[in-house]
Amino acid sequence: MGRRVLARVPASSANLGPGFDAFAAALGIHMELEVEETPGVFAVETDLPISRDRRNLVVRGFERLLDAEGFTFRIRSEIPLCGGLGTSAAAYVAGLLAADHLSGGDGDLLGAATELEGHPDNVAAALFGGIVICIDGATVALAPPAGLELILIAPDEPVRTRLARDALPAEVPLADAVFNVAHGAVLTLGLATGDLELVARGLADRIHQDRRAHLYPNSIELVRRAGELGALGATISGAGPAVLVWAREADTQRVIAELEPLVSGWAQLQRVAVEAEGAQVSEL
Ligand code: HSE
Repeated sequence: MGRRVLARVPASSANLGPGFDAFAAALGIHMELEVEETPGVFAVETDLPISRDRRNLVVRGFERLLDAEGFTFRIRSEIPLCGGLGTSAAAYVAGLLAADHLSGGDGDLLGAATELEGHPDNVAAALFGGIVICIDGATVALAPPAGLELILIAPDEPVRTRLARDALPAEVPLADAVFNVAHGAVLTLGLATGDLELVARGLADRIHQDRRAHLYPNSIELVRRAGELGALGATISGAGPAVLVWAREADTQRVIAELEPLVSGWAQLQRVAVEAEGAQVSEL
């Protein structure tokens, strides 16, 4: 019998408002990858509408460390495919982690996954779990504060991350950079101390969300209205169009009741938790 390993990797929401390409949270929805040694056979088995050849992102992650020939990859995922929830990061991390385990390695998976993904935020959250801040090729972790609830809005219509990245200029005005430094610092302070007022003040962004608003008009409208719906605020999740609505525990039901009619017909709503546990791999 060939070896079989199972990798389980969380979704993630990057940026968290001001922390463009630097902040992310792992979410309690997962991708699972089973890799089995099948000598002479390469196969990708999945119900997902994704590539089943060497272009598959799980396989590309795996092939950073091992040749995929002679392995079968079975991929299952609960992560909505709309965009903004770290699916590609989860796929790269799953492939890398499975190959690392099979080769008995202890490699720099963050470095390899960051190279594959092009930026570190989603892959860091997927690997380590919790809330992460990416800095100098490493991460600093934060535990989510008590009393914070998250509501995920996943639009039916996807946005391609490549388009969202192309919508951003190479340089931003100094005033926008200053705004995001201040808000990112206040958000971090709020998360670290459990002060949800500071979290609410820190969620604003002037680097990426407005510059991509034409790609996700419904999502940006929700972000702009989140405060009046009783939430602490809302952030475009990664490159969008998914939205993360941030709420106090005591207000969550009321916020959901306000959101439901607003998202009806174009998006799915679900409660999500920050996933404390990062990617896991085990032998089957
Ligand atoms: N930080 C990235 C972005 C996440 O906003 O483009 C998307 O993968």
